[in-house]
Amino acid sequence: MMENAEIALSLKDISYSYKGNTAPVVKDFSLDVAKGSFTTLLGPSGCGKTTLLRLISGFLVPSTGTVELNGINQKGIEPDKRKIGMVFQDYALFPHMTVRQNILFGLKIKRDKLSNKKLSKEQQHEKAAKIAENLDLQNLMERFPNELSGGQQQRVALARALVLDPEVLLMDEPLSSLDTKLREKVREELKMIQQKLKITTVYVTHDQEEALSLSDKIAVINDGALLQYGTPRELYFKPQDDFTADFVGRANFVPLENETYIIRPEWFELNKTEAPGVVEGKVVSASFLGDRTRFVIAAEKLEGKSCNVALTADLPTLETNFLEEGGSVSLNISHKWKI
Ligand SMILES: Nc1ncnc2c1ncn2[C@@H]1O[C@H](COP(=O)(O)OP(=O)(O)O)[C@@H](O)[C@H]1O
Ligand SMILES: [Mg+2]
Repeated sequence: MMENAEIALSLKDISYSYKGNTAPVVKDFSLDVAKGSFTTLLGPSGCGKTTLLRLISGFLVPSTGTVELNGINQKGIEPDKRKIGMVFQDYALFPHMTVRQNILFGLKIKRDKLSNKKLSKEQQHEKAAKIAENLDLQNLMERFPNELSGGQQQRVALARALVLDPEVLLMDEPLSSLDTKLREKVREELKMIQQKLKITTVYVTHDQEEALSLSDKIAVINDGALLQYGTPRELYFKPQDDFTADFVGRANFVPLENETYIIRPEWFELNKTEAPGVVEGKVVSASFLGDRTRFVIAAEKLEGKSCNVALTADLPTLETNFLEEGGSVSLNISHKWKI
């Protein structure tokens, strides 16, 4: 992504409190979303993600601050007049309508508001057919939602939002109702569709793996506040606070050289020399994960100094078959990061 890319969506110092509650659930929140990018709002349940989407789409009005779409302040613009598409967690498809009717439905009610010109029946069908082709739904157009798999239903929900040509697509935990296997497959599809259509997307999830694999940029949110906004790699390798370090990936907080360092489980390596390793300790448990094995290690010495720290280390299975629970282990550190 280009550094000074065009900004599609800009949140400026937004705060929000629900009626009757004085405590804000969104606090002084600012974020720029680049045109064509895939941006994820990542944070634990209850941190304010859905509230942020409601503020962007206009169903809620910020207590302070502004929402801008393509540089235009959205204050006073009703939700159905904003050029924003939405895909919900449960897809909210109309069960008594076919896929084609579901896709056409939005076009019929929204055509005037969004494009300011009336689409003929022919044009509507043309648009529906084009989006169906883009999302590989051509052969499912006459089916009803209950005749579709979870992944197909998701594509219909996407098609219904995209056929209206929104400037920004909002998605609120769209994969959470799918089972684990399907979730990964649909995740791949989603990424491919977004890249093909280059639609500016704001995606909400509490799942860090989902966020890392899908996003151009991730906004880490805790308790209504933005903690860090960066690329997946920036967040993983250079987290700026303890919460982000631990929420995006796993973090060991390790006291070394009179500082606390972040060490990811795979940043440990087996010490294969005779000399003592940076970490000397005992294996508490070992979980086989296939290519890697995850060890919980009770560190007894760090850099030669006595300590009592529990560490999680992911080590290649083929190198560590000999390690047993209760046995001694010696590790070095290949990479570390200080906040
Ligand atoms: N309609 C509402 N009225 C009052 N409080 C709400 C309402 N909706 C959400 N909240 C509260 O606002 C906070 C943020 O909620 P939400 O935006 O749904 O979080 P998330 O989507 O990250 O799980 C939570 O503490 C939640 O209980
Ligand atoms: Mg939510």
